[in-house]
Amino acid sequence: MPDIRAVIFDAYGTLLDLNAPVLAQAERIGPHWRRFSADWRAKQLEYTWVRSLTGPAHHRDFWRCTEDALDWVSTRHGFSDPGLRAALLDAYRACPAYPEVPAVLRALRGRGLATAILSNGEPGMLGAAVAAAGITDLLDDVLSVEAIGVFKPHPLVYRLPERRFGHSAAAMAFVSANAWDTQGALACGYRVFRVNRARDPDEYGLRGRAPELDDLTKLPALL
Ligand code: LAC
Repeated sequence: MPDIRAVIFDAYGTLLDLNAPVLAQAERIGPHWRRFSADWRAKQLEYTWVRSLTGPAHHRDFWRCTEDALDWVSTRHGFSDPGLRAALLDAYRACPAYPEVPAVLRALRGRGLATAILSNGEPGMLGAAVAAAGITDLLDDVLSVEAIGVFKPHPLVYRLPERRFGHSAAAMAFVSANAWDTQGALACGYRVFRVNRARDPDEYGLRGRAPELDDLTKLPALL
């Protein structure tokens, strides 16, 4: 197996805490805010998959999928407050990083490894979130699927870091909190690490194929 040369991260849910925007509005949303956050995320992802599978003419960027999903989920949960909508979307553009992220990125770069994001996010929302999280200078690049107009886990997406860094997938680690993304990266030959903060049950038979971490703290020691 070749040495690892670069570490590629998923963004939302892996480096960036996507529950934080909803938590900040928990008083307005009420006791079911966690359900609301999970429903928003699930619908957002469903929209990406339907848009990719129905063909290029139906592609809309991840910001649009995020807005459309929020509108559907808000209606479903009985909210019609434009102020709440605006507050949630503003906060989504400024998702904070999980606490251990800056130190982990610094440790990886200190060992000469390149670090990058590979995300469904469109470049504007990713740039805003990475800046708000204070990790812009700790990443060599932020790669967006908008370069090719199809969402993860389409195999073409996972070729973007190979093109950017000139390394084969086998010489790069891919780190994601999303089981479906983990499966996508494994299928494309990456050395994959799954972050399972919620200790969700196994999916796609990932356990045994991708080491599982509670958070990112131990990642540098494993590479
Ligand atoms: C990402 C989301 C989908 O690609 O987690 O960053």
